[in-house]
Amino acid sequence: MKNRHPGGPGKSVGFGLTIAALATLATAVLLWSHIRREQREGLDDLNRRAQLLTHRISPVARGALGRTDLEMAQRFGDRLEGYSRLLGLVAFGPDGRVVAAGRGVQEAGEALSDLARRVVEQDGPLSELRRGVDGTTHVMIERIIGDEGRPIGAIGVLHDAVYLEERLTRGIVQAALWSLGVGVGIFLVTTGLAWAVFERPLMKLAEWMRRLRFGNTPELPPANIPVGRLADETVHLAASFRAARAKEQADAGDAVRSDKAWTPDRLRAHAIDALSGLPLVVVSNREPYVHQYRGGKPVVTRPAGGLVTGLDPVLRACGGMWVAQGSGDADRITADRDGCVPVPPEDPRYTLKRVFISKEEEQGYYYGFSNEGLWPLCHLTHERPVFRSGDWEQYVRANQRFADAVLEEIGPDSAVVMVQDYQMALVPGMIKQRRPDMRVGLFWHIPWPSAEAFRICPYRIELLQGMLGADLLGFHLQQHCNNFLETVDRMLEAKLNRDRFTVEIRGHTAMVRPFPISVQSWQERGVAGGEKLRKQLAELRREHRLEGVMVGVGVDRIDYTKGITERLRAIERLFEKHPELVGRFTFVQLGAPSRTNIPRYRDMVTDLEKMAADINTRFRTEGWEPIRMLVGQHEGPLVYAFFRMAEVCIVSSLHDGMNLVAKEYVAAQSEVDALAAESPRGPGALVLSEFAGAARDLPEALIINPYDTEQFAAAIHQALVMEASERRARMTKMKERVEEFNIYRWAADFLSALAKADGRTDSGAGEAAAPRGVDRERPVGIQPAR
Ligand code: F6P
Repeated sequence: MKNRHPGGPGKSVGFGLTIAALATLATAVLLWSHIRREQREGLDDLNRRAQLLTHRISPVARGALGRTDLEMAQRFGDRLEGYSRLLGLVAFGPDGRVVAAGRGVQEAGEALSDLARRVVEQDGPLSELRRGVDGTTHVMIERIIGDEGRPIGAIGVLHDAVYLEERLTRGIVQAALWSLGVGVGIFLVTTGLAWAVFERPLMKLAEWMRRLRFGNTPELPPANIPVGRLADETVHLAASFRAARAKEQADAGDAVRSDKAWTPDRLRAHAIDALSGLPLVVVSNREPYVHQYRGGKPVVTRPAGGLVTGLDPVLRACGGMWVAQGSGDADRITADRDGCVPVPPEDPRYTLKRVFISKEEEQGYYYGFSNEGLWPLCHLTHERPVFRSGDWEQYVRANQRFADAVLEEIGPDSAVVMVQDYQMALVPGMIKQRRPDMRVGLFWHIPWPSAEAFRICPYRIELLQGMLGADLLGFHLQQHCNNFLETVDRMLEAKLNRDRFTVEIRGHTAMVRPFPISVQSWQERGVAGGEKLRKQLAELRREHRLEGVMVGVGVDRIDYTKGITERLRAIERLFEKHPELVGRFTFVQLGAPSRTNIPRYRDMVTDLEKMAADINTRFRTEGWEPIRMLVGQHEGPLVYAFFRMAEVCIVSSLHDGMNLVAKEYVAAQSEVDALAAESPRGPGALVLSEFAGAARDLPEALIINPYDTEQFAAAIHQALVMEASERRARMTKMKERVEEFNIYRWAADFLSALAKADGRTDSGAGEAAAPRGVDRERPVGIQPAR
């Protein structure tokens, strides 16, 4: 799997930059204070010289300024001329006016009149630097006291101070160059040392540890680990780890061979054995945990749907990574920069990596091609599929994004990848194209139609080729496998082995097998039981006016394939035929709106609500309604409570790969007898469509054709009046089967088959898992696990 830390000297560079920045700053501060000192000394020097000159000339100035005749002043003026850096001197009268000035400083002297007047009025000299267009001048002015002890004027001394400015600029440039030089030097030395002495050896150690985790690593850790104790501890830790792993593998072998029930622990042990230490990666469109803002805060929700219900317990048990589309508005903020977030949030067991696609991609790939094209293509419900070339382009692009995300995460290592469902048909081929060595399985959660039905898809060849990139292709039913092989046979130049159920194409062999998916127990999900459940049920009955009535329940995503319209029609017919049930039976429909960007799905929500309202208007009595339509996303504990309350659960799919609601209802009846006080009637009954894959596994249900309203209504009635002993007998068989062939066994079967499906044409692929013949008869019960 991807090394989450950058491979280069990232930390050393950061460290070097910090030290270099500090050193540069310190050098700059030192040099600047040196420059400032030099500058101050230069000014002091000018001040001293100016004061000396003033003192020297004071006696003469006193005489001259005391006189009024112009000639004397001019003669005095001749002595005020400058030399070298001295620009000249200026004599000011008591009012600050210039009375005499050296050559070239007359104008500058006049500009100093105000200053001179202030000097005459106060005690002590004034000096300053003046910047003008001709450069910088140092000026010092001192007043002259006459013989009578009163100020009679002032003398100003002007020095050229340009050299001071030049020295300052030169100093700054030199200081900057020195600071930079010191910074670069220190950066190179510290970065190099940090990398060579610490980061590189520690990264080698981390890589060694990672390899240790996945097996296949040299005995000793890398040399030159900077801290001797760390090296010693690492050797000991590795030895303990190896011993623990060896024990775990031995235990795993024992557990796999045992005939205990399939539990998370047993699956975990099995996965260690089957995956040979390789990490497990699941790829699907739907993510198992969605973060959404509620009241300004990110809140996690679990999406409805069979895929998530089935796969989450598997990854919780095995660990690994789940790559899926990030669909919640708080998904980015709750994930790290790679889109990864540990889940389940309350007790992390595996990593969810979110792939973020644009709205446009989602529209074309998910709503368009997947759900307006492939979904109605594979479900025989007479809904016409729509194939748009733009949607197909987005489907290809999005599949590539998911394949890239997997490849990026796995890096140079290997992994076992379980690709999920019709939204990802091209992913197996895309992964295999870049990494033929990787083991890839694809599980198709929806039905596979007949070759004749699939033929209408304009992209059928590309889809089949993409799917056949997988080493193992799983469907729920043998019938779907048969249909798939028939489709391949009709549409591709491929070699089919109908005994082994394999397809060979371009030197690669894909095995095709049925794996009927199942559920985990409700108890494992921590739902309420005993007194707590009893209170919850009483509360629900009060809230929904269900006190004293028999209850029927349906739990579905609102989807035309689920036969909800047909279900309501059958309930209406039930009340027509059995008016004695008026006021005695209420049907509760938990409906989760889904794919509502598609008009057909959006319309269904309002159509169903209207239909339920019409039936209610027709049959309602004081305080009772025949149908309670609860539209929304319903969490597991609520669904469980309704399952425990209901005398009958109705699953009436027009076509469905498996339908886990049927199995979840059966699983919820497991403890009914043990808690007889809350369910005096004993376990409930299941009315199940013959067109749901679950009907093969649960033949003791009341099997109906949802299109046959009379038969459907009669089955609901039969469920409501059935003797408790018959209900118990039917339910006992179903629940034993669901408990035995649970989700862990499904995953274990898939992983075992995948471990053996090496994609080689000459490997006798198919011997790994006993092939199941093309059985056109309806098989009864769940296929046995190998
Ligand atoms: O049953 C087919 C399926 O894609 C499942 O895999 C999934 O659980 C369900 O439909 C939900 O669909 P969506 O992810 O479009 O909400």
